[in-house]
Formats: sequence, structure tokens, C-alpha cells
Amino acid sequence: MQFQNDIVLITGGASGIGEATAQLFVERGARVIVADLDGQRGRELQKKMGGKLEFYQVDVTNEEQVQRLFAYVEEKYGVLDILHNNAAYSLSKTLWDTTVEDWDKVMCVNLKGYFLCAKYALELLKKSRHGAIVCTASELGVVGCVESLAYNTSKGGVLQFVKSLALELAPYQIRVNAVCPSGTVTPAFIRDMSRTGNYEKECEELVATYPLGRLGQPEDIAKAVAFLASEESSFVTGTHLMVDGGFVAQ
Ligand SMILES: NC(=O)c1ccc[n+]([C@@H]2O[C@H](COP(=O)([O-])OP(=O)(O)OC[C@H]3O[C@@H](n4cnc5c(N)ncnc54)[C@H](O)[C@@H]3O)[C@@H](O)[C@H]2O)c1
Repeated sequence: MQFQNDIVLITGGASGIGEATAQLFVERGARVIVADLDGQRGRELQKKMGGKLEFYQVDVTNEEQVQRLFAYVEEKYGVLDILHNNAAYSLSKTLWDTTVEDWDKVMCVNLKGYFLCAKYALELLKKSRHGAIVCTASELGVVGCVESLAYNTSKGGVLQFVKSLALELAPYQIRVNAVCPSGTVTPAFIRDMSRTGNYEKECEELVATYPLGRLGQPEDIAKAVAFLASEESSFVTGTHLMVDGGFVAQ
């Protein structure tokens, strides 16, 4: 599964799952653009990767900024082979605690961000011989849980976005799929699981619900993204791949 000279753009690629995916694509020969809001982490990653990856600072919810990002990609590379829509905002709140601002922010980053990037990437993806979009959804787009209403709703939306967009882009041979991770050890996950002040206990309880008996690592998800972006999945579109240690099989 090599990506020699493919142009790959990863949103939210400065941290966690996006970062691991960026590193994997670089290892496999791609030219990677990490598009992220976090300038400090992005610049550090670019430095760490010794110029094998470039960082572009962007807020994926801002139409003008997204337009400029893809204009830059067009000018520099003239094509885009793979878009990994991955940047998201996670929020753990009940219906009662969720404010209108919370709701709007979750929908804005997790859905509008994916929409804007797909919209402005389209003309460049059409120029690829094997264009693919991979969206990071979540196990929580498939099953429900308490205290995560807005986030779960947004991730369910990502799965529908993927199906409908796959049909729209099939005539151009651009495939659109999603990965659905379960608990994966990233900065966002650690922050979230530390809310009660007992990270270890929270993790233990979660792991007990996973048939494979461990948490996900960002690299587990990166490998699934690479599969869905590669020629190995050339007849796969409009679907999602659970990368969840068997959680939803129960
Ligand atoms: N970690 C998990 O357990 C888990 C489980 C299921 C799904 N996911 C999904 O995986 C994806 C990555 O999550 P993660 O855990 O690696 O998170 P993370 O917080 O480690 O990384 C997310 C990155 O997105 C960036 N970002 C946030 N808002 C942005 C914006 N408006 N514009 C540009 N960049 C922005 C952040 O700066 C950050 O670098 C998300 O879609 C998340 O919903 C994660």
C-alpha cells in the first residue's frame, strides 16, 4: 500500500489520529499537507518530519480560509489525490448542559468543516486518477451513549454525508468512505477521559467493554485510513469501517 508522490491533505493533522495518519502517509511516499488550527503543534510536526510534510494553518469552519487553502494546493501541486477530513471538536455534555453555542460549535467543526473541505477539494480531486475522501467519524456515530448528544449527532451526520457524497462523486471515480474509531489514545481522548479526575479508572472501565481488551492507538486508525485511501479498496465507496476493537459487534 504505497502512495508514491500522491498529494494528501489531512485536516486536524497536527495531533492524535490525524498526526499518526500524516506520518504513515509520509512513510509510504506521499506528499502530505497538514491543515490544522493549531499553529504551534503544526510547526513542531513539520520540523520533526524534516520537511517531508508541510503545515498549513487553517480554521476548517471558515469558508474563505478553506478556499485559500485549496487555491494554495492547486497552485503548488495542481492536483489532490486524497482528502482526509478529520478535524473535529469533541464535547461530553447532556442535553440539559449543552448550550446553543456548544451545539453550533460541534456542528460547525464536525459537519461544516467536512463539507467545506470536500467542496473546495473537489476540482483538485477530479484531476487525480484515483481520488479518495476518507472522513473520520466515530463508533458514536453508529451507537448512542449518554452525555455526548451533540457530538454523537454530528458523527451520525458524517456517516450520512459519506453515503450521499459517495453517490454524487462516483461518476468521477472519487471514492468516499469513513473510519469509525472507538476510544483512541490522543490528546482529545486524554482530556475527555480526565474529566472525572480518574483517567486510569475511566480507561479501565472502557477497555472492559472492548472485546480486544485494549484501547485504540492513533496508528490503528491511520492504517484503516490508508486502506480506504488506497487502491486496495478500489471497489469500496459510501461505507464505513469500524476500527473499534470489536465494540459494535456485541
Ligand atoms: N480519540 C478518540 O477516541 C476518537 C474516537 C472516535 C473518533 N475520533 C475522531 O477522530 C478525529 C481526530 O480526533 P483526535 O482524538 O485525534 O483529536 P485531537 O484533538 O488530538 O486532534 C484534533 C485536531 O483537530 C484540530 N482542529 C480542531 N478544530 C479545528 C478547526 N476548526 N480547523 C482546523 N483544525 C482543527 C485540532 O487543532 C487538533 O490538532 C476526530 O474527528 C474525532 O472526532 C476520535
